[in-house]
Amino acid sequence: MKLAIIGANGQLGTDLTEVLSAEHEVFQLNHADVEITDIDSVRNALSSTKPDVVLNTAAYHLVPEAENFPDKAFHINGTGVLNLAKICQDSGIRLVHYSTDYVFDGKKQKPYAEDDLPNPLNVYATTKLAGEYFARNYCDKYYVIRVSGIYGKVPCRAKGGNFITTMIKLAKEKSEVRVVNDEILTPTPTYSIAKNTAALIRTDAFGLYHMSCEGQCSWYEFARAIWETLQLETPLYPASVKDFPLVVKRPFYSVLENRNLENLKANQMPGWKEALNTFLSSEFDNLTQRH
Ligand SMILES: NC(=O)c1ccc[n+]([C@@H]2O[C@H](COP(=O)([O-])OP(=O)(O)OC[C@H]3O[C@@H](n4cnc5c(N)ncnc54)[C@H](OP(=O)(O)O)[C@@H]3O)[C@@H](O)[C@H]2O)c1
Repeated sequence: MKLAIIGANGQLGTDLTEVLSAEHEVFQLNHADVEITDIDSVRNALSSTKPDVVLNTAAYHLVPEAENFPDKAFHINGTGVLNLAKICQDSGIRLVHYSTDYVFDGKKQKPYAEDDLPNPLNVYATTKLAGEYFARNYCDKYYVIRVSGIYGKVPCRAKGGNFITTMIKLAKEKSEVRVVNDEILTPTPTYSIAKNTAALIRTDAFGLYHMSCEGQCSWYEFARAIWETLQLETPLYPASVKDFPLVVKRPFYSVLENRNLENLKANQMPGWKEALNTFLSSEFDNLTQRH
């Protein structure tokens, strides 16, 4: 198949490009090649590439900043996805769109399945949920994929890093590091998302999917695993979310259950710790030299 990846040079886009190029013809669309908030730009980019599948990783995902720029966040996370959905529908293109665990409020305290009711707590999450509905209701052939706590070998472009690079930096710069132990998630490498996306798009099972690693941990436990594998020596302590100012409301529990992938017998996601160890061993030199 011919695939167009939007945000191809981003954190997720880089692994999607690498993994999917092994079995498909891939067109890499960076921000300079397409502006998703402009429907003419989307139409032009896709009419010149004529893909069978579009994968959208573009988002406004600076979570605190989105509180001050809700129009901008909605423009990219909502209207941008609507534009993609309309053009894909008109041209019979399949649309893969990535969303977030933040659509939930965290009150369930048990893993969220796809049929759990979302209740986004902040502007970013609300606009991402709007984008999900645009993809689902304006394009028949859609796969909306919610991911959680992502990290990859290329740092998130918008944030200039990811949790792992931030921890390595803090360990170098601070005399001690404190990380919250009462906010629970499932860290997931973009490589695993790319591999499982490759399997999913081989099916015609359009729909909403959760795609995170198996298991769960607190941000502190995630940090502790990084400390152990990279043998960081700076003291690391557990803290509470109450110890830090709440810049923006967010779910303190956002574990996803990959129920729809399971039902499809297409859940290939590894355990979070195993995936982290694989990532850290392959990226060890890169990570330790960069910081
Ligand atoms: N980070 C997390 O833990 C997390 C958790 C859940 C879900 N997600 C979701 O995962 C997805 C991928 O995140 P990521 O870390 O790979 O992001 P990223 O590294 O910031 O990459 C996003 C890509 O999209 C491009 N882009 C941004 N705005 C665009 C626009 N208006 N039109 C066209 N292209 C645009 C960016 O280009 P420029 O940089 O040149 O602007 C960049 O290439 C996002 O949808 C995000 O909401 C992330």
